[in-house]
Amino acid sequence: MKNEYLQSVLIESSQIDECVREMGRTIASDYGDEPLTVIGCLKGSFIFMADLVRAIPRTLHIDFIEVSSYGDFTESTGNVRIVKDFKHPVKDSHVLIVEDIVDTGLTFDFLFDHIRLKQPASLEIAALLVRKSVDRKKRPIKYAGFEIGEEFVVGYGLDAAGLYRNLNHIAAYSPT
Ligand code: PRP
Repeated sequence: MKNEYLQSVLIESSQIDECVREMGRTIASDYGDEPLTVIGCLKGSFIFMADLVRAIPRTLHIDFIEVSSYGDFTESTGNVRIVKDFKHPVKDSHVLIVEDIVDTGLTFDFLFDHIRLKQPASLEIAALLVRKSVDRKKRPIKYAGFEIGEEFVVGYGLDAAGLYRNLNHIAAYSPT
């Protein structure tokens, strides 16, 4: 397999570790002793989710939802669909969505609309990556790791046609 992606490291593993640790401490402090359910959005969030929940030193419920809008393509299809819904009852619990990236914001909108129907005490999102183009007034992202430009990114859970999710870092990817 070619390793061209290794030449284009955008965010080092050590930067991610530091960011996740800091975010975990902030989340723990913000929610205090209130009931908290953390819902990871699969598949892209699986590594960030695993690291982030271990950086939050308190009890919490963990669940997952799987949605898809990209398929095997680099352009969003514009249609977000649920592949697997979360199961934990969240009425009156605070809910924190965990996302690898807020890109166009379509998935953000879908998740907020979907989870709000279950009447959580509050609903926020932690995203490792946020595109600079996202209107953060319209789509408030309480916990955001890194702002990125237009580059197609892979690694630390993010894929290109299903590959590269297992990289420890975030890389800019361009098919050659
Ligand atoms: C990716 C990513 C986010 C979403 C963000 O999911 O994990 O959920 O796109 O894009 P948006 O802001 O434009 O909606 P994808 O549909 O690629 O599925 P995956 O997580 O299984 O890779």
